[in-house]
Amino acid sequence: MKKIIVSPSILSADFANLEQECRSLEQCGADWIHCDVMDGSFVPNLTFGMPVVKSIRRCVSIPLDVHLMIDKPERYVQQFAEAGADFITFHIEATESVSQTIRLIHSCGKKAGLSVKPNTPIGALTPYRGLFDLVLVMSVEPGFGGQEFMPSAIEKIQRAKQLFPNVIVEVDGGINKDTAKQVIDAGVDAIVAGSAIFGAPDRRLAIEHIRKGR
Ligand code: DX5
Ligand code: ZN
Repeated sequence: MKKIIVSPSILSADFANLEQECRSLEQCGADWIHCDVMDGSFVPNLTFGMPVVKSIRRCVSIPLDVHLMIDKPERYVQQFAEAGADFITFHIEATESVSQTIRLIHSCGKKAGLSVKPNTPIGALTPYRGLFDLVLVMSVEPGFGGQEFMPSAIEKIQRAKQLFPNVIVEVDGGINKDTAKQVIDAGVDAIVAGSAIFGAPDRRLAIEHIRKGR
């Protein structure tokens, strides 16, 4: 059985203690760290940008999985790459230059991810087949942590695995150990979880439960 990648979202972290929070995730077995970048325009919330990613890069050695929820992400790709992002994922709803943005990410030596909001069908990604490295299926409306998992994501994960068998399929939103089991059964490769990990008394155990779906 393949090992599921767990990418804890620091959206639920204590931002006043980000260094400790990120080191603790690494020590507790996180595979990647998921950084949610929001611009108050593409989504109705604001978080952080390149300086925070750069600071996190200095604290941990695991890959940084940067999820850009911003309009025209092509404007900032190079700066996130320089800040130390390993995966740069953007929303196809956020730009008219999807192929160019993927190429830009690759030209910076980084892996490119494409994300779809809950109402965007997975088929919207087929024109870019062969170009990207990761698909991020949103299982909540992007913008906030702690929302309930949308079951429609299950079919999208299955569809993404069929359409793009060689890319990493990641899911984001409302994942706990119960919904983790459902997405693992659907074939997901990587799981983002925020509140379920930061809200748990034992982060190591929470990460293991999500990885195994039990
Ligand atoms: C939502 C973010 C998610 C979020 C997940 O817009 O992209 O990464 O932090 O949080 P939980 O796991 O609490 O749903
Ligand atoms: Zn995210």
